[in-house]
Amino acid sequence: MIETVTELSRLRGVVSGWKRDGLRVALVPTMGNLHAGHYSLVKLAREHADKVVSSVFVNPTQFGPNEDFTRYPRTPEADTSGLEQAGCDVLWLPTVESMYPFGVELAANVHVPGVSSLLEGAHRPGHFDGVCTVVSRLFNQVQPDVAAFGRKDYQQLAVIQQMVADLAFPIQILGGEIVREADGLAMSSRNQYLTADVRPQATVIRKVLLAARDAYLGGAERVAVEQEAAARLQAAGYLVDYAVVRMPDLSEPGSSHEGARVALVAAKLGNTRLIDNIEF
Ligand code: PAJ
Repeated sequence: MIETVTELSRLRGVVSGWKRDGLRVALVPTMGNLHAGHYSLVKLAREHADKVVSSVFVNPTQFGPNEDFTRYPRTPEADTSGLEQAGCDVLWLPTVESMYPFGVELAANVHVPGVSSLLEGAHRPGHFDGVCTVVSRLFNQVQPDVAAFGRKDYQQLAVIQQMVADLAFPIQILGGEIVREADGLAMSSRNQYLTADVRPQATVIRKVLLAARDAYLGGAERVAVEQEAAARLQAAGYLVDYAVVRMPDLSEPGSSHEGARVALVAAKLGNTRLIDNIEF
């Protein structure tokens, strides 16, 4: 049976009991409205630990003023039974007051320079500060040995890895593969915002990323690949934030095509902002 915990003292009691027994503890942080992408992280976490804690917390500090914090989908019953089936031991449900005891305005802020300011960071100012601020608190609350994040949010994973290295959190970070719908759309809690009239176009983002990878590997210039990707998305009705080819650390590649790359897209379809990426 999964145990739902809402008190930090209870959480600490459960986890310290496990640690006394020599068990390895994993954390899977989420904002709820869980889908197969989240559950794949729970399963990945299980492979690296004896006990899995998942947190569900819609974190106000990572949403911009015009973003969807208040209407973000909240589905606590379905999340609880899904987590139990996926093999999660504890569902950690902090309140805003327990996460930010001095209030959101006075909260100590964790800022990771450099990688936080690119791409998503440039289009969502302060977003990664909110993510790092809440993830560092979750790390201190749960004190996991290992924590799992999805490669769907490629830049988030990179920012967390830098935070963990810089602040010396004794936590191993796992990156889980992207889980997709049958038609290629990366699963996301925000996909349900897609209206029926635009939903067919949502598959274009994956097709554009595959084509960008193939063109780049075929020797096309990076800038031409990026322009073609943005043009295809625009032609399909998207408002493009970025469509880029980057080094794994998200810096801009030089003219050589040798080595690993990642292509990343963020674009709005109707009122829904979608992100996706492909590593190659
Ligand atoms: P959320 O969007 O709920 O995602 C929780 C975790 O699930 C993240 O690590 C995300 O990358 C992963 N994930 C989401 N969709 C996925 C998919 N289709 N395939 C694989 N993994 C997927 O990301 C957040 O919440 C928040 O920023 C959080 C880290 C919880 C901090 O508030």
